[in-house]
Amino acid sequence: MRMYDLIAKKRDGGEMTREELQFMIDGYVAGRIPDYQMSAWMMAVYLRGMTAPEVAILTDVMAHSGDMVDLSAIEGIKVDKHSTGGVGDKTTLVITPVVAACGVKIAKMSGRGLGHTGGTIDKMESVPGTRTALGQEEFFRQVNQIGISVIGQSGELAVADKKMYALRDVTATVGCIPLIASSIMSKKLAAGSDAILLDVTTGTGAFMKTVEDSIQLARMMVDIGARNGRRMAALITDMDTPLGRNIGNSLEVIESMEVLKGRGEADLTEVCLQLAANMLVLADKGSLSECRAMAKAVIEDGSAFEVCKQMFACQGGDVRVLEDYSLFAQPEASFELLAEQDGYIWANDTEKIGSASVLLGAGRMTKEDAIDPAAGIVLHKKTGDAVKQGESIATFYGKPDTFAAAEAMYRSGLTYSDKKPPEVPLVYARVTADGVERF
Ligand code: URA
Repeated sequence: MRMYDLIAKKRDGGEMTREELQFMIDGYVAGRIPDYQMSAWMMAVYLRGMTAPEVAILTDVMAHSGDMVDLSAIEGIKVDKHSTGGVGDKTTLVITPVVAACGVKIAKMSGRGLGHTGGTIDKMESVPGTRTALGQEEFFRQVNQIGISVIGQSGELAVADKKMYALRDVTATVGCIPLIASSIMSKKLAAGSDAILLDVTTGTGAFMKTVEDSIQLARMMVDIGARNGRRMAALITDMDTPLGRNIGNSLEVIESMEVLKGRGEADLTEVCLQLAANMLVLADKGSLSECRAMAKAVIEDGSAFEVCKQMFACQGGDVRVLEDYSLFAQPEASFELLAEQDGYIWANDTEKIGSASVLLGAGRMTKEDAIDPAAGIVLHKKTGDAVKQGESIATFYGKPDTFAAAEAMYRSGLTYSDKKPPEVPLVYARVTADGVERF
């Protein structure tokens, strides 16, 4: 077999076999196939697409290019959750304890912030002392003892994806649905859960900017999972506006704890309830409405918050901060972003808000950057809200020398109108192996 022929086959719209995909991925990981040939093949995929069986095989082969986590030492159905990324997207911190409090084991690996989007592991580490790098034995023991552990990705999952993603980044092949779907799902298959709930975000703060593209991506990922023996569901959620009001690591932990204490922001609480209910359905806990009621009940009776505290405590975190937020590391300074005119906020580009928070120190501009756990933004006015000139739209937290650049970034995505913009749904659709249900 020659890579040259496989590139030509895909260029001409052919469907690759398992043997061909295995030859290509094995050869690429081993360094026998050079970057320039892999780039050419990925560009051919970008232009020609892949069939459903073909992309499911590619994903399986990519998953097996690294460690495959074996969660069989943990009893019961293990349900994972993955978000395609967002700003102020702290749902994992809320729904994993909720689902665990309902009796479903959570053995989850999460990521760090990427670009303008935040990551669960950075958020967790803002709780002083929290360890997110547990060995496999300790990870499994904790899940068996208290029902939950969320840790950073350990080992080498989906090695092929790491190499392919870096190449896509510099060859204009990132925005290709089969390549995105196989990239995400290869890591999810390798992480070992029986069931996977996908939160596919859509809008200015998301990877996918339109609902239709998000549905297409969700359908492909659900199909890949199902063909590889996993129970799957996806929700298409709005990311044209940040979720909740807080953006930044400790700020997002605080806002998540408020949801777990039953007094969270309405939009964040609603999305969390829908995500948690869908995870519980995947774990065979009942119908959607029964599962939603269970999720609500463990928030109302405080048991989800208790599970969350137990998780942080087991991982070394100082859980006093979850009760008394003043014990979190405090920001050096704050800055009020004032409205320039009266009117409604017509648009507030969420990627720009995320980038502003990165400039404040809440995320990394290079891999080596340290994060300021206290940096971030609290939104007082969001898209659709009425404002008066001089009123505070948002408070920035961080070092004073970061405020000017963050303000310019934030304002570059902010527009006003004398008309109120139309409301958009929080959740646009639910995608399962049975089809797409639009809301
Ligand atoms: N996240 C991933 O892991 N891969 C992609 O291709 C896009 C987002």
